[in-house]
Amino acid sequence: MSNIIEPHGSASLNPLFVADADERARLVEEAASLPSIVVSSASAANAVMLAGGYFNPLTGYMNKADALSVADNMHTTSGLFWPTPVLNLVENAGEIKAGDRIALKDPNVEGNPVLAIMDVEAVEEFTDDEMATITEKVYATTDPEHPGVAAFNSQGKVALSGPIQVLNYSYFETDFGDTFRTAVEIRNEIGERGWSKVVAFQTRNPMHRAHEELCHMAMDRLEADGLVIHMLLGKLKPGDIPADVRDDAIRTMVKLYFPENSAMVTGYGFDMLYAGPREAVLHAVFRQNMGCTHLIVGRDHAGVGDYYGDFDAQTIFHDIPEGSLKIKIFEADHTAYSKKLNQVVMMREAPDHKKEDFVLLSGTRVREMLGNGEAPPKEFSRPEVAKILMDYYQSLNG
Ligand code: ADX
Repeated sequence: MSNIIEPHGSASLNPLFVADADERARLVEEAASLPSIVVSSASAANAVMLAGGYFNPLTGYMNKADALSVADNMHTTSGLFWPTPVLNLVENAGEIKAGDRIALKDPNVEGNPVLAIMDVEAVEEFTDDEMATITEKVYATTDPEHPGVAAFNSQGKVALSGPIQVLNYSYFETDFGDTFRTAVEIRNEIGERGWSKVVAFQTRNPMHRAHEELCHMAMDRLEADGLVIHMLLGKLKPGDIPADVRDDAIRTMVKLYFPENSAMVTGYGFDMLYAGPREAVLHAVFRQNMGCTHLIVGRDHAGVGDYYGDFDAQTIFHDIPEGSLKIKIFEADHTAYSKKLNQVVMMREAPDHKKEDFVLLSGTRVREMLGNGEAPPKEFSRPEVAKILMDYYQSLNG
């Protein structure tokens, strides 16, 4: 275990899930008599990430000063490197005030069970200008059409800050039992497998040939011991493919096309921010926490629409202070199948190629084909993956 990369900001992980069952039962009972509030999906997702050790070394939700500082310069007021605010924003705090102990209820589970207990240290309201500053810095836009900005602004402007104790993993553990993992579990499994150089692949999509080969290229070039495919299991924007379908497609691909024991298929419970470069940095932080030494960052990582340049999520890492993170980035160029070379390549490594020498399909075109029951070319998608996606899109139509 000693070979595993250190977590971010502390020597060992400090997950906020209450691991002791008796203590948890006691807290569940206590929660029933506390003032409570149903939190936003984003706040709940933050709690789940804090619970699993992904957001180490944070101990709870940020206050206003920390959130503004993180948005402005990627450091908390005490100097911890951190790329995005981790907030519990509500519309209206009601009677809740600093010093209260409250129950946070889960908006995503039937009956709104208690997700966590919070010791409220401050109740502070952001001004409209401050909200706009945060979105401008974190999402690089204030456009209300941006799905991440829309989700951020929909929560309210009142920040409840303070430490939390988390009592469960929301719907992630129940709905994605085979795939949902905490950072603690992944770190432990990496140790058990005896891996030390470990590549993480972030994804919110099914994996096509380009993604598959990106993973193989990173593994080969880094001479890595293993790969952790780490898929987002939380909320996406309308039109994105649901997690169970992606999970099935990815598992099928790994089973058929990856050497045995070379890749772990796992997922995490967080809502997509679509914050491009800033989210890529957050991705790096929590992949370090789960024990990975490298994160693949390719084209338009965590992007949406035209809000970010294709490789902004790589260049942001060039600008962060040396030593901010221990994890390294594997920078991938636009990757596609070359008809000339009969293999997937990074485009910059095939300078003699013209656009038409590659098999390139837009996301819209791929969705259209799958919806019509038409498999994309085998150079683009593995047939077994295409089948799962066609079945899904056709179930939508029929
Ligand atoms: S993400 O929003 O979760 O980043 P996605 O699942 O589409 O999106 O991509 C996962 C990773 O693969 C990201 O690092 C992304 O940059 C990279 N990627 C996806 N497609 C390509 C491609 N054709 N060329 C290079 N990198 C790619």
